[in-house]
Amino acid sequence: MPFPIQRPRRLRRTEALRGLVRETALSARSLVYPLFVCPGTNVKEEIRSMPGHFRWSVDLVVEECQRANDLGIPAVILFGIPEKKDEAGSGAYDPDGIVQRATRAVKKARPDLLVIGDVCLCEYTSHGHCGVLNGGEVENDRTLELLAKTALTQAEAGADIVAPSDMMDGRVARIRRELDAHGFNGTPILAYAAKYASGFYGPFREAAGSAPQFGDRKAYQMDPANQREALREIALDIEEGADVIMVKPALPFLDVLALARREFDIPLAAYQVSGEFSMVAAAAERGWIDRERILMESLISIRRAGADFILTYFAKEAARLLKC
Ligand code: PBG
Repeated sequence: MPFPIQRPRRLRRTEALRGLVRETALSARSLVYPLFVCPGTNVKEEIRSMPGHFRWSVDLVVEECQRANDLGIPAVILFGIPEKKDEAGSGAYDPDGIVQRATRAVKKARPDLLVIGDVCLCEYTSHGHCGVLNGGEVENDRTLELLAKTALTQAEAGADIVAPSDMMDGRVARIRRELDAHGFNGTPILAYAAKYASGFYGPFREAAGSAPQFGDRKAYQMDPANQREALREIALDIEEGADVIMVKPALPFLDVLALARREFDIPLAAYQVSGEFSMVAAAAERGWIDRERILMESLISIRRAGADFILTYFAKEAARLLKC
């Protein structure tokens, strides 16, 4: 029955009516705050391409975590910038590495705040690739051993969740086996299951100094042109024991997120990555867009597409906005 009987505008007349029929909600409890940790003490160094985000030393990252948690944010994900990088990325799996130290300190100060460890080697390798090299290629199976060690040392340091972001084949199963063998069968794996080889990671690589020194990541991260392949990657990670699956980046890949939501019934996360943040920040700085509206609209869109929770550099700001 068309117009004039049907008038969808009737339910949009007031905020109370709109609120009554709103289909999607955003809450601070579904936000994860990404943080970069660096050596030293009393260091708070702004990341040029990510205004308002910093490289924090362990002492200061603890305080920042507490501020985020006070806003209702339940979880942080930690990325490390090591003292020195080497061929094998040994800083990633050093029991006393930067993320392991930060995890211990944060858990000590705030036992209830969830700490997620990003499991990857690229921030720790001298060549910037996500695994060990053999000639010009990243060698999959040898890399798995180092990823397993990384996840284990993070769990030992107190990480509540480990999140492999490397895109090696078989990493979820290998990490699951390692954790279980050492008494961490209760530690969930959040798998960056459909992670694309994306230009949107640019600012992150500046922040972490993790850009590949030669070539690119296309031989392990996914081709942005592919959607069916994402389903296959996700299905494999679930078979291997992933507890949560993730799509990354978020906004440019909402179709993948929506499809994943329809096809799989395990919890689904999305990563609104550094480039997504920086584009909004830059356009808002120029006065071209309304920062707060756009950040809230992008987050609700990611939720609407199907994400249960979102890793976002807007976490603190969104949590603040949701409070008022
Ligand atoms: C590590 C990792 C990256 C990001 C998360 N984990 C960088 C990359 O793959 O190059 C990107 C996150 C962001 O851009 O905010 N592999």
